[in-house]
Amino acid sequence: ALPRDLDGRRVLISAGGTREPLDPVRFLGNRSSGRQGYALARVAAQRGAEVTLVAANADLPDPAGVHVVRVGSAAELRAQMLRLADESDVVVMSAAVADFRPVNRAEHKMKKGAADPDALELTRNPDILVELVAGRRPGVVVVGFAAETGDVSGDVLHHGREKLRRKGCDLLVLNEVGEGRAFETEDNEGWLLYADGREQTLPRAAKSELASMVWDGVSALLHA
Ligand code: C5P
Repeated sequence: ALPRDLDGRRVLISAGGTREPLDPVRFLGNRSSGRQGYALARVAAQRGAEVTLVAANADLPDPAGVHVVRVGSAAELRAQMLRLADESDVVVMSAAVADFRPVNRAEHKMKKGAADPDALELTRNPDILVELVAGRRPGVVVVGFAAETGDVSGDVLHHGREKLRRKGCDLLVLNEVGEGRAFETEDNEGWLLYADGREQTLPRAAKSELASMVWDGVSALLHA
């Protein structure tokens, strides 16, 4: 049986990937399925939490006992997260949020026309995780996600540590991504990085098992 260590805790989770509208039928999007966020929601509910899931364009069934709020764009996701965070004890940003959105949204479908297309003008979206950290009540635990690759400026852990510091969250779930990962047989698929400097490796695991490991970490922070 699962522990009931999240009994009565109000948990807010974002999942999926945002879509930034170009016109009534087109958008800039990403490939996030929402599966990890849904697994986090399902497991938190099983461990006794009152769970609200803000789902961006995820094509998945509502997890049992979870309140689901559907959103499309980063602006909609941000508005719901900032509103709902006020009544939450734990906030998890697992959604893939677009870094940029088109400056203009055409009211009518853009036509092919005869002329060459204009350049697409983009503007930066606010960092919701940073805003949630800045606006939280004392004691609220905030969790972020990061998918990093190693490169010339540092390895995955280096980038993860920097991101944890920059975002200011209590816990960062760090995954290594990129070419060739699927062919490697190492069992270190990721890390949990804590604001207090602790680092825990995460073995290769199903998304529900990863969710359990994240909640073990959050639970320890809540009970500390
Ligand atoms: O900076 P990067 O996108 O790698 O950071 C990932 C983390 O930040 C995730 O937790 C994601 O949900 C969150 N994020 C956000 N707002 C953005 C971009 C990312 O909350 N505009």
